[in-house]
Formats: sequence, C-alpha cells, structure tokens
Amino acid sequence: MKEGNDITFRIFRFETLESTNGYAQDHLSELDNLSVIVADWQTAGRGQRGNRWLAAPGENLTFSLVLKPEALLAREQMQLTALASVALRGALLEAGFPPRIKWPNDLYVGDSKLAGMLIENRLFGDHIEASVIGIGLNVNQTAFDPCLSNPTSLKALCGRSFSCDEVLESILRHFAAWLPKIDTPALWEAYTGELYAIGERRQWKDSATGTTFYGTIKGVRRDGRLMIRLDDGTLRLPAFKEIEYIL
Ligand code: BTN
Repeated sequence: MKEGNDITFRIFRFETLESTNGYAQDHLSELDNLSVIVADWQTAGRGQRGNRWLAAPGENLTFSLVLKPEALLAREQMQLTALASVALRGALLEAGFPPRIKWPNDLYVGDSKLAGMLIENRLFGDHIEASVIGIGLNVNQTAFDPCLSNPTSLKALCGRSFSCDEVLESILRHFAAWLPKIDTPALWEAYTGELYAIGERRQWKDSATGTTFYGTIKGVRRDGRLMIRLDDGTLRLPAFKEIEYIL
C-alpha cells in the first residue's frame, strides 16, 4: 500500500490471532519496516498495565504496525507515542470526530475512550531496533463489557457504521505524513497541544499508595513524564504507571 513520501506499508490480514502485537513480536525478524498486522478478532488482545483488550469479532480495528527506525535513541521513545497518537487523531478528525490524546496514548472523545495503544520496543544498545505499535480502535461495536470504564466507538458516537478498511487506510495515510516529522517541534506541538484535560484541575490516584491528590496538567516532558502542577505549587512528574486518572 503506497502512502506518499515513498512510504509503503505491507499489510498482513488475519481472521483470528491471539494478539497482533504478539504475532508481530514473534515474527519480528521476518517482518520488514512498515509491516502492518491486522486481525478481525483477537482472542487474547493485550492492553496497557497488563490488562486485556476486549474487542468484539469483526467490528473493530485491531492492528500492529512494525517500525524499524534507522536511528532513534531509546531515550527518544516518546517520539513514537507522539507519532502514533497524532496520526490516529488526524484520521479521527478527518472522519469528523474531535478526539483528545489522553496521556500517554489513549484517544478520548469527551470522557469516553475510543482507542488505546500498546507500544512495545525492542532495544539494541541505546537504540530502538524495532517498535511494535499496537492500536485498538472501537469502530462499530456498541455493546461493551461492563468491566470497561467509559468505552465508546465511532458508531456509538454518531449512529452510523464505518468501514474498518477505510479507517485503517486513513490512519496509515496520516502515519505516513507524520513519520518524517519524528523528533521535530511540529510533532511534539501536535501531541502536547491536544492533550485531554490540559489546564484542568483534576483528581489523580497515586498507584503505589492508593491515595488521591489534585493537580493541573501543564504538559508532557520529552522523556514522557506528565507535568502536573500540584495545589501547593510544586511540579510532579509521574511516569505512566505511577498515577491513574480519576474520571
Ligand atoms: C490499552 O490498554 O489502552 C491499550 C490497548 C491496545 C490494544 C491493541 S489491539 C491491537 C494490538 N494488539 C494487542 O494485543 N494489543 C494492541
């Protein structure tokens, strides 16, 4: 699939896989840069924080994009999070939805989760040798497992069905447009400029202690840490697993 800028994706489609990320990891040495693994249904889809990603068969987009960057330092891995989040947001905007990026890489409309990502990197020394960018986007599913907090889908938001293939094509087109902008101010501004709840005073949970606190999101540091201004004026810089949003 040709996407401009001489960026060509190679798409591998499966009816069923345990996990597209799992498949990509298992076959990483055989898969070229820009391979895309798509499954109509994942029997054991993987989510963040060791959770499962639950998506009804045939109704959603579940895929993993393999990137083999030529020169990206491990300490710059947040660039991949920004790239994937901004590309996905661009495709959703084009489809008429106004999503925000919930740090680090969920896509929200209002307070509902439309998409999530699981990015798994393989390092070689201080470089990223390969990255598996797994994206789960709820497309036509309208009934969700009650254990999920605030899920939504394109169809649930607007009442009509979408072609998963067309949505995938659009995401890859946006991905191709942003890929050459890795490590540019433009990408970072696009990522941090559209953060969910930026500038709002919110309640948070400290994952280690279970205690809650209030603070206002000021931005994201290039190392991926969120910048939260606490009520006493100090800046807290949590990594992803250190805090949870209270919605
Ligand atoms: C999250 O918990 O929000 C991250 C969800 C990531 C799900 C996607 S679906 C495609 C890819 N394969 C997986 O097993 N997980 C990711």
